[in-house]
Amino acid sequence: MEDTKQLEQRMQELMTLWDASKQLNSHLELEKVFDNILWQMVQVIGAEAGTLWVADTDGANLRAVSAHGPAASEILDVELPKGQGIVWKVLETGQAERIEDAAEHPDWNQRVDQQLGFVTRSLLTVPLMVKDQQLGSLQLLNKQDGKFFTEQDMRLAQALAQQSALALHNSQMYDELNRMLISMIRTLASVLDARDPYTAGHSERVADYSLWIAQKIELEQSECEELYKAALLHDIGKIGIRDELLQKPGRLSQEEFEAIQKHTTIGAGILANMEPRHAMERSVETAKSHHERMDGSGYPERLTGEAIPLFARIVGVADAFDAMTTARPYSKGLTQREGAEELMRCRGSLFEDRMVDAMMSILEECDYDTSTYKTERRYRI
Ligand SMILES: [Fe+2]
Repeated sequence: MEDTKQLEQRMQELMTLWDASKQLNSHLELEKVFDNILWQMVQVIGAEAGTLWVADTDGANLRAVSAHGPAASEILDVELPKGQGIVWKVLETGQAERIEDAAEHPDWNQRVDQQLGFVTRSLLTVPLMVKDQQLGSLQLLNKQDGKFFTEQDMRLAQALAQQSALALHNSQMYDELNRMLISMIRTLASVLDARDPYTAGHSERVADYSLWIAQKIELEQSECEELYKAALLHDIGKIGIRDELLQKPGRLSQEEFEAIQKHTTIGAGILANMEPRHAMERSVETAKSHHERMDGSGYPERLTGEAIPLFARIVGVADAFDAMTTARPYSKGLTQREGAEELMRCRGSLFEDRMVDAMMSILEECDYDTSTYKTERRYRI
């Protein structure tokens, strides 16, 4: 009987490990994955509560990012400065700790218990580390039925901590690289805009409008992020257009207009050379096709309807709206309300109706002043 029970318990533990590794390799948001893993650990190992502590980027504090148990909501966002308590100690030594009576332990930090009105008895704490990098700690509190955590509990917790640490490390590296990439793209775009005082901030605004439209039509978060980068780079080809032409006040001759139109293909050519190529594909399309129009009156290929790539259909609306509402040497620019009327006039002919509708609802929400527009999921660094 006892053997069957033990076997069941082992099976349960293996299932937890298997499920955790499946989740960590999926594309779910990391916070949700950690939350699930912690919950499973609390269940399988049998603890009253559990907390996942993650180190800040500068490594000065550990912050509770996920918690289960009676004081879970209170402990979230509690911070432990470097060196305080057992969660820091396991990180510093790299060794897991099993403690039978926390109150008797010299490293136990009473402050958190007192703050939360929770009584900690037994404890199991394991470090989250990749090589020497201290990423955080996983802590289980109060083994059920007044028992103590076992050697076997500790091994399972360590196995889960190891996998979680790797996933956390990868995601932090990805975030850092992504932040660096976005800031370089923004710098590049602002250098480009700065060539002409009348277009200062154009790329940033077009990127914001495009992102807002994408959120309104409910594109996935990863697509929104890709679109934001593509929109920042949509006019990159203007690098290849002479200043006199770009900044020329008044009407352009047919020849000059054709020269300016080339910024689309020049931009696509520049971006097509950037690596990794598959990550640049949609930016290439956007730079090339953002002046295409639904009725085939655009350039450079006179594409129609859905033959125009999705990102280019979005950026096309954002770009046109910003161009209309920005002052130029030869025109003072429309108000945002007038710009909205102009978009409506061209709805379905030049611009895709659902993009125009999305932009209209954004403009209505901010009462035709986009500087005040608030979106919950604003993608920013
Ligand atoms: Fe353009």
